[in-house]
Amino acid sequence: MAKNWTPDGWKAFEAKHLPKYDDPAMLEAAEATLATYPPLVFAGEARALQSELAQVCAGKGFLLQGGDCAESFAEFHPDNIRDTFRVLLQMAVVLTFAGKQPVVKVGRMAGQFAKPRSAPTETKDGKELPSYLGDIINGIDFDDQTRVNDPQRMVRAYGQAAATLNLLRAFATGGYANLRQIHQWTLEFMGRSPWAEKFKDIADRIGDALDFMAACGINPENVPQLKGTSFYTSHEALLLPYEQAMTRRDSLTGDWYDTSAHMLWIGDRTRFEGSAHVEYLRGVGNPIGMKCGPSLEPDALLKMLDTLNPGRVPGRMTLISRFGHDKVEAGLPRLVRAVAREGHPVVWSCDPMHGNVIKSDSGYKTRPFDRILAEVKGFFAVHRAEGTHAGGIHIEMTGQDVTECVGGAVAITDDGLADRYHTHCDPRLNAAQSLELAFLLAEMLNMELEQRTADAA
Ligand code: PEP
Ligand code: CO
Repeated sequence: MAKNWTPDGWKAFEAKHLPKYDDPAMLEAAEATLATYPPLVFAGEARALQSELAQVCAGKGFLLQGGDCAESFAEFHPDNIRDTFRVLLQMAVVLTFAGKQPVVKVGRMAGQFAKPRSAPTETKDGKELPSYLGDIINGIDFDDQTRVNDPQRMVRAYGQAAATLNLLRAFATGGYANLRQIHQWTLEFMGRSPWAEKFKDIADRIGDALDFMAACGINPENVPQLKGTSFYTSHEALLLPYEQAMTRRDSLTGDWYDTSAHMLWIGDRTRFEGSAHVEYLRGVGNPIGMKCGPSLEPDALLKMLDTLNPGRVPGRMTLISRFGHDKVEAGLPRLVRAVAREGHPVVWSCDPMHGNVIKSDSGYKTRPFDRILAEVKGFFAVHRAEGTHAGGIHIEMTGQDVTECVGGAVAITDDGLADRYHTHCDPRLNAAQSLELAFLLAEMLNMELEQRTADAA
């Protein structure tokens, strides 16, 4: 257990990107309400995820983490949850079958509401208002009332997270994720993507393999892995009053856990020395992610690892690099080397989204699919050169047929962005682009495996 730590100890540290609430009594009331609510996850589940991630640390597996940039109250719908879950399952099947790796599946779902913003205010037509900070804090509509920070939104977000998680659990274990259903996962609008055809091939081959195994007496009844899957949730632990209210002591071990999600991560803007966010997360037993951007120095990273994982427990730390397509190959090696030299066990994951945002000619914030791929390729190249495992991918995506990132096999053009641009914050990969990315990742994982085999020979 962490030394000298309490759930509210972070308050004595420097907190960036925390909202100010006008009425402290209302904030306290919302926190008190949340503190009486049931935990969303159990400590034992967080430990199960940690041991799956420990396998990835050891080079045996791949972390697939994805979902919305920002979940919203407006887009809360069972079909949206199902479609995102379904695309993540499809990606996992491709990575397992074509990439030959067990895949740890973690959604940016059921709690990914709060956003750090680059500017505190936003100006439209000469009017200046506080920036939108995510539905758990204020509203996206550009009017005075909606942009007021409202603590009661935390209680509503909890309710939405609970219902989302409930449906995800039902899908993961109730039959939807049964590999026998694989043909049913195909989304209608994916028909236009050449990758949909490739996915159908894989589905056919898995169907044949299942028939063969059934003939040998192996079926979903006696091998439960064929019937369901494990699926975990995660979000950026940004809104500390919410995270603190969800912090509970595990009755089995006596350790503290943040029960708002299985895994929590620290954003690139809140991962500095002396940060309240780091102080909070060092004391909870969940697996922790940390974003690593171009401004992170190797020494600072090592200090952070000593703070967050002094016991050097494998599976505890996932480092999520997000350099940008043109910076990853220059910037990442020094971090990878420092971590390897000090012997810190980590999962290295690639976020190819946050370093690759541009403004399109049509005025939309977008991410060119080519640059996303280029960053992923650079990430794999660095790990190949360093002899370390490219352990995961962290993406902003949705199961919907949105038009937010330009490019891909079903090319989204600059002019087409306006058609279905629905995100509440950053542009997400749509279903077809996500599947396409999974196939390219599988190729790169195969290259890593081939190299390992050659090195071992
Ligand atoms: C995010 O993941 O939504 C995010 C804000 O990323 P970063 O902290 O890497 O900027
Ligand atoms: Co984002």
